[in-house]
Amino acid sequence: MPRQSDTILAAIKRAVDIVALVGDYLPLHRHGSKVKALCPFHDDHKPSLELNPDRQSYKCWSCGAGGDVFDFVQEYERVDFPEAVRMLAERAGITLEQTSTEGSASASGSAPKAELLDTLAWAERSYAEALAERPEAAEARDYLSKRNISGASIARFKLGYAPDSRGWLIDRAKRKGRSTLLLERAGLLLPSDRPDAPPRERFHGRLIFPIHDPRGRVLGFGGRVLPSVEERLAATGAGIAKYVNSPETPLFQKRRLLYGADLAREGARREGFIAVVEGYTDVIMAHQLGASNVVGTMGTALGDDHVTALRRLADRVVLVFDGDAAGQAAADRSLEIFLGHEVDVRVLTLPAGFDPCDFLIEAGVEAFQDMARHAADPLTFVVDRVSYRYDLSSIEQSRVAAETVLATLSKLPRTSRAGLDIKLAKALDTLAIRLHVPVESLHRRLAELRREAARVAVSRARGDAARRDALAPAATIEGSTSNPDSSPTAKSIGNADGSGDVFAAARPKIRPAELDPIDREIVQMALDYPESVAGLISRVTVESLRDPATRAILQASYDLYAEGVEPAFEAVIVRLEQPEVRSLAADLVSPIDPVPMPDRVRPADPADRLAGVLVRYSERLRQERIHEVLAARAEIDREAEPELYRALTEEYLGLLHHKLDLR
Ligand code: CTP
Ligand code: MN
Repeated sequence: MPRQSDTILAAIKRAVDIVALVGDYLPLHRHGSKVKALCPFHDDHKPSLELNPDRQSYKCWSCGAGGDVFDFVQEYERVDFPEAVRMLAERAGITLEQTSTEGSASASGSAPKAELLDTLAWAERSYAEALAERPEAAEARDYLSKRNISGASIARFKLGYAPDSRGWLIDRAKRKGRSTLLLERAGLLLPSDRPDAPPRERFHGRLIFPIHDPRGRVLGFGGRVLPSVEERLAATGAGIAKYVNSPETPLFQKRRLLYGADLAREGARREGFIAVVEGYTDVIMAHQLGASNVVGTMGTALGDDHVTALRRLADRVVLVFDGDAAGQAAADRSLEIFLGHEVDVRVLTLPAGFDPCDFLIEAGVEAFQDMARHAADPLTFVVDRVSYRYDLSSIEQSRVAAETVLATLSKLPRTSRAGLDIKLAKALDTLAIRLHVPVESLHRRLAELRREAARVAVSRARGDAARRDALAPAATIEGSTSNPDSSPTAKSIGNADGSGDVFAAARPKIRPAELDPIDREIVQMALDYPESVAGLISRVTVESLRDPATRAILQASYDLYAEGVEPAFEAVIVRLEQPEVRSLAADLVSPIDPVPMPDRVRPADPADRLAGVLVRYSERLRQERIHEVLAARAEIDREAEPELYRALTEEYLGLLHHKLDLR
């Protein structure tokens, strides 16, 4: 969203009254001319949040929260400023300045969003009415009562039934003067295979679970088949999907939506966390029994896109897995969310054989909440699982256990967001302690596994990789060494620090193309032009390179230079212990007899190349320092350490505006 002009922001402020706004979220108390409410931003017992209609502001006399309508929405809904502006503009009926790509948010096909929402809401009411009143809905009502779903829950979740008779919803729409085209755009009809075929209804004959956005507007539906249809079809051998869902549109995106999010806010606030289950019935039963801090992912794996919605509800998220489904997949998913986002994630596995709905009915809501409150973080969860399987007093078994966990960590996408590397480093520290493995080994092995994963991805992307590999000549150095990988004495890159490497097993070849390009260029300069090492040594630290192999090569060059020996390739190579690093160095150095260049093309001047790579390197350092400073700033308490906070902010601003001086 582009920045909105001040005129628009002012128009929104004029149009939205603070008292009406807060009154939609909280019960208001009027004391004479004063309007107050229980403050939602701290544990309030007497109304300390005061609204000021003249200034159009709010202020909590107890916790200090305060501001205007934008601040309130940001804090209450846990959204950023642009999102708060969007929400308030919509409330005020004001159109925002949009970029063309954003137009999609307001359109599906060509129907305006408001018309679609209206159609969906109308369909929801129609289905609900049918469930309550139509004779043919008897089986649906029966089924709900067999599943112990109460009348109150039916009303709260606005459950419905889509009658099976052909064209029920379409006929009803026609009678009310509604267009069939809108029904189609709203995803209520199935696309017809022949142009002359009458349109068919997507949900006919099914129990309807409306799916709402956090504000309670219906965006789509899930429809469950009823048992008799299931049996009838099973008898004839025909399969049928247990659930059908609305098709994905800009409006309805299952991967972003959480079932029950509109009903879970108060519960989440009260309990201090939000629990995530998979099924419609799990959510409904939880709310029915009093655990309203529960939402559902509707069968899809919890993913990055759900996190925004979750963070609006609570800072802590407890992922609930069925006893049977508990396992690597659950662990992977929760670790990914844990390491990829600033949110406190916990993992709860139910006893085998229970899904949340069964468990809540059998064990009760208190047991559920209690287990959720004490659920472990994903890393502890994963480590507990491996500790159970392996004997951690044995070095060999510890190694295997660590390898299992690292394999999971290495599959996680890397994010460049500040603070998350710190989180990962802390995770490795924990692992090192719990599994009795040196932390350096863990870092190294993780880097290796990530490289391998990247390599697999790269060669998968290049369809012809296998063929090319088969044709490629063996690397000179590697070819002259007798199969290093099978040698039990093969040393690792980091052995020099004496920590010992418990993962000294398979070491695949390192491909130059997979190295960081700046690292690669620096090492190539050092190898091709040993005279450039004098300039590099004062500007580029070994630790600042990203790959252990490039670090090893640069270290060898610097060592030679420091000893007064010319760091020529032949001298460097004998200093390298690892066969795969020697092989890499050989790949990187330019051949002595290069393929002749066309007449008018001249190789870049070494001094220009060096200057060029140093510019890119210093820019990378600057970016890294920005991340570090921001991460450090996020760690400290602004109130407790204002000086430090200000110093870090100044450093951050300095870094933003000035290039690092590497001269
Ligand atoms: N789901 C879906 N499509 C399917 C199967 C499942 O969308 N074909 C989603 C639904 O949101 C469902 C959730 O995945 O609620 C969990 O699936 P399941 O455990 O099979 O559903 P339940 O809600 O437990 O349904 P029921 O107990 O009625 O069989
Ligand atoms: Mn189920």
